[in-house]
Amino acid sequence: MALPLEDAYNDVLGKALRGTGKSPSELAAESGVEIDQIRALIDGKFDAAAARAVAVSLGLSPDRVVALGEGTYVPAPVGVEGLRQFNTPFEDMTVNAYLVWDPESNAAAVFDTGTDAGEMLDAAAKIGARIEQVFITHSHGDHIYDFDRLMEKSGAKAWCPKGDEVEGAEVFMPGRTFSVGALSVEARLTCGHARGGVTYVVRGLALPVAVCGDAMFAGSMGGGAVSYADALRTNREAIFSLPDETILAPGHGPLTTVGEQRAHNPFFPEYR
Ligand SMILES: [Fe+2]
Repeated sequence: MALPLEDAYNDVLGKALRGTGKSPSELAAESGVEIDQIRALIDGKFDAAAARAVAVSLGLSPDRVVALGEGTYVPAPVGVEGLRQFNTPFEDMTVNAYLVWDPESNAAAVFDTGTDAGEMLDAAAKIGARIEQVFITHSHGDHIYDFDRLMEKSGAKAWCPKGDEVEGAEVFMPGRTFSVGALSVEARLTCGHARGGVTYVVRGLALPVAVCGDAMFAGSMGGGAVSYADALRTNREAIFSLPDETILAPGHGPLTTVGEQRAHNPFFPEYR
């Protein structure tokens, strides 16, 4: 069964509101939408005309915010041999981890751990994939919850980006490229949600794959807790420079592609 989208239209509005630092009264003045109606909108009472006006003031794509509100954006199913997503519960949400393997040599890598790496370890054993490396997108608790057990069971070498250190993982600088069998894994800086967050671009499968943590979601992105401006900028530089067919493997919600996010992500209205 397909995972639901991580964010609703009002999550997107809330993230953009916090990110731009606008007050509800400033937003009301700019958008011409009454402040009470803005509050209702952010609380989840969808109104297309109000959502459109507010989206424009927040630099979002009005059509794409409305598509989220009306439920008309549904990610197309995507996948490729050598990539599997694992979705585990965390408080009232869920979090993704990924197994990537080279089908020729069965050398494998894990990207983040989720809250329970058990199913991923079982799947690797069943496939015959050897988990040699663990790559951390960012160090937020839900993404590394089962790190110690994964390390103990797999005996793998772990890597984390500078700025998002994890005890037991070796720190690297973004820009570095790793090898997993015949696959290459290029780490690109996608900070802003997290201080040192990275996106790992995997090449060598039938389609390129970008494991992006919370830098981007299908139809949304992680909140810009460190820097909203950096989150937008680094996503433009590191993710939207990838080919459209690149599978985007986010830390929450369903798989998507770079091309689909060009067309549907409300935070990047400039792409078509
Ligand atoms: Fe996060």
